[in-house]
Amino acid sequence: MAQLGGTALDVFPICLGGNVFGWTADRDESFAVLDGYAAAGGNFIDSADMYSAWAPGNSGGESETIIGEWLRARGNRDDVVVATKVGWLPQRSGLSAANIAAAAEDSLRRLGVDHIDLYYAHGDDPTVPLAETLGAFDALVRAGKVRYIAASNYTAPRLAESLAVSRREGFAEFTALQPKYNLVERTEFEGELADLCAAENLGVAPYYGLARGFLTGKYRPAQNNSSSPRAEGARAHLNDRGLRVLAALDEIATLRNAPVASIALSWLRTQRTVTAPIASARTADQLADLLLAAELELTAAEVRRLDDASV
Ligand SMILES: NC(=O)c1ccc[n+]([C@@H]2O[C@H](COP(=O)([O-])OP(=O)(O)OC[C@H]3O[C@@H](n4cnc5c(N)ncnc54)[C@H](OP(=O)(O)O)[C@@H]3O)[C@@H](O)[C@H]2O)c1
Repeated sequence: MAQLGGTALDVFPICLGGNVFGWTADRDESFAVLDGYAAAGGNFIDSADMYSAWAPGNSGGESETIIGEWLRARGNRDDVVVATKVGWLPQRSGLSAANIAAAAEDSLRRLGVDHIDLYYAHGDDPTVPLAETLGAFDALVRAGKVRYIAASNYTAPRLAESLAVSRREGFAEFTALQPKYNLVERTEFEGELADLCAAENLGVAPYYGLARGFLTGKYRPAQNNSSSPRAEGARAHLNDRGLRVLAALDEIATLRNAPVASIALSWLRTQRTVTAPIASARTADQLADLLLAAELELTAAEVRRLDDASV
């Protein structure tokens, strides 16, 4: 288990991504994945009000609803750190005070909980003054509806400014960041953002830990047979660097007799400031590789080999 930044949240070192629930995983399969994760000691589940509004027939909130049904069915609400987000659901979009207050009530209702453990701004909203956004988050914390607030997809300057505004106004501060970060997408996070998270002791839960499935090794140049809605995004990494990374992952996976996906997530776990990489599993079988990454410790030489392959 790992402490998330300066919070009192003690989380499993792999966070379970929730955008599959109600999208590529139906209710039964979602329950199987959630059960498998909890049985292995997993307690950190990531969702968003907009999951999975993009899927045909969906309108958003499907992931939260399934997680809520599962928490109720298993009676384990107090054992789980529930993270969700506001800002990108088309019908509740943006970070105005009124929208945050309304979206939080919607999420609480769908999840069937009286508080959200970690509530993220899904992305920056420069059209709303930061003091308004952070005031609205602060009101939720004061009301006991949210334990901690966090940011996703913020740039370093805007994250720094947000922390300064919270301090100036005496508001609750962002305690964690959810950036896009994995072995083939390093530049957005490494550097300024990572430095800021380290300096401010923010917890970091990177998303696309598996680069939409590319870092499982199941996409290869000669094969184009996946029907997954993620395939196009994943295959976009089949370039020189992506192939170098796959070669390094294959080599280490063979030596360690471990799946490529587990090695890729373990590499993320070794990175400065990272508390728990986020990855999703569509099936309980896929989940096994994610769970192994929570235990697998790479050697310094293996980390260097992956670092060198992914620059
Ligand atoms: N803050 C943000 O803006 C943001 C954006 C995106 C995601 N997220 C969060 O991050 C989580 C992770 O992102 P993601 O789910 O989109 O992508 P990901 O974790 O990088 O990739 C997960 C996908 O890889 C495939 N996979 C997983 N394990 C596998 C295995 N062992 N063998 C073969 N394939 C495997 C599955 O896709 P197939 O169905 O294709 O097999 C799975 O859904 C999301 O669920 C969400 O919670 C946040």
